[in-house]
Amino acid sequence: MVTLNINGRDVQVDADPSTPILWALRDNLNMTGTKFGCGMAMCGACTVHLEGQAIRSCVTPISAAVGQKISTIEAMSADKVGKAVQDAWVKHDVPQCGYCQSGQVMSATALLRMNKAPTDSDIDNAMSGNICRCGTYQRIRAAIKDAAKSIA
Ligand code: FES
Ligand code: FES
Repeated sequence: MVTLNINGRDVQVDADPSTPILWALRDNLNMTGTKFGCGMAMCGACTVHLEGQAIRSCVTPISAAVGQKISTIEAMSADKVGKAVQDAWVKHDVPQCGYCQSGQVMSATALLRMNKAPTDSDIDNAMSGNICRCGTYQRIRAAIKDAAKSIA
């Protein structure tokens, strides 16, 4: 058993310590908001926060998260910055198919926690690892700017 702190709660996961966080979330804990895309840290669909930093849960073993705080998309509506991002996502009608969007929201939230007024280039740098095959990038950028204004 491995104890993980997820969204403010300690949970027991019956898995090998080398298991990626993504599998523990989806398969052990039935938290399916975090998505599997590439499994190789190439797409960002699996993004969660570890101690507030955006990480790729498909390549991060649960052993690396012991004693640290994991946050997932399921907790973002109760987070001031995460809620502002989600509200801006709705206002700008960002998602198309939606598959990449939980990862996009997690990366955008991590960005806005560190940088309250990101420039286009800050946004491009922070979001470059989150691929959207539907090409929602312009709406993502607009929504991040709007969210930044709303939390200023
Ligand atoms: S599923 Fe983790 S980066 Fe693609
Ligand atoms: S909204 Fe379809 S992959 Fe991003």
